Amino acid sequence: MSFPKIRMRRLRSSESMRRLVRETTLSVDDLVYPLFVREGKNLKKSIYSMAGCFHFSPDTIAAEAIEVAELGIPAVLLFGLPGKKDDIGSQAWAEDGVVQRAIGEIKKAVPQLLVITDICLCEYTSHGHCGVIKKSTGAQEHKNIVDNDVTCELLAKVALSHVQAGADIVAPSDMMDGRVRYIREALEENSFHDVVIMSYAAKYASAFYGPFRGAAESAPSPAFAGTSLTDRKTYQMDPANADQAMAEIALDIEEGADIVMVKPALAYLDIIYRARQRFDCPIAAYNVSGEYMMVKNSASADLLDEKAAMLEILTAIKRAGADIIITYFAKDAVKLLSCI
Ligand code: PBG
Repeated sequence: MSFPKIRMRRLRSSESMRRLVRETTLSVDDLVYPLFVREGKNLKKSIYSMAGCFHFSPDTIAAEAIEVAELGIPAVLLFGLPGKKDDIGSQAWAEDGVVQRAIGEIKKAVPQLLVITDICLCEYTSHGHCGVIKKSTGAQEHKNIVDNDVTCELLAKVALSHVQAGADIVAPSDMMDGRVRYIREALEENSFHDVVIMSYAAKYASAFYGPFRGAAESAPSPAFAGTSLTDRKTYQMDPANADQAMAEIALDIEEGADIVMVKPALAYLDIIYRARQRFDCPIAAYNVSGEYMMVKNSASADLLDEKAAMLEILTAIKRAGADIIITYFAKDAVKLLSCI
């Protein structure tokens, strides 16, 4: 059968008709809203590199969490900016660290709002890498690397301290090998059997994290220029690889991840799609800061319609197969979805 018996445009003739045959529906239930908490008091300060996003202090974050929960968003993802950094990122597992306190404030105010915490050291280390640096000296100095296993031990401490503070879900974003296993073991040993691990399983070494690194003050130190530590390519994935993403995801599930993430989302829709076909667990996708700011900046230059572009992007990520979408657009998207 073909034209004129078939005319594809019949099913596009009105908004009601389009609604009736729509294959993908974006819902508030799919969304996670990232929040930045930093040391300080009474703080709600615009982030220069991320329009519409703010730094909160632990004492102001509950008000924001209440607003997020009232919009119906099921979860927030917390990032911390400590008051002081050191070589090993020790503020990351401090009992009175910013994230630990923020979790307490949020849970007190809105216990039903799920608190996910990013587990990584890059915001906490003075050098900006996601792990501890194993130093060589003299002529061997160029061989300095991020030490995998030592870092995993610390990440497990960070995860445990967040869970002790009340986090519902921990999300390791460092890309060390075996970190999910270390974290799962630490949680089991401490009887936190029901805590969910959402691993950043296929996380690429992406230029699209640029605005976030400004927001989280977490870029690798410029002192590494010219060495293999100048970027995160020795641990985050090469954007050219797809089969390898499947291997990463399979390993994280094997080690005890309940939810696996692909990050970034937009340039990696094929990875999301393949993961959806292959694995049965929930798949999350991170609509990262660079993807967000491309839309924000284009909209503020009057080059495109921000709301339409946002919905198109989020729908595409869902259509590719993501069950969960982490996005700085979450609040705006919900406001739009609920008035349709
Ligand atoms: C920490 C981390 C990063 C992001 C989330 N967790 C930055 C990085 O890996 O350099 C990026 C999020 C975004 O760009 O929105 N490792």
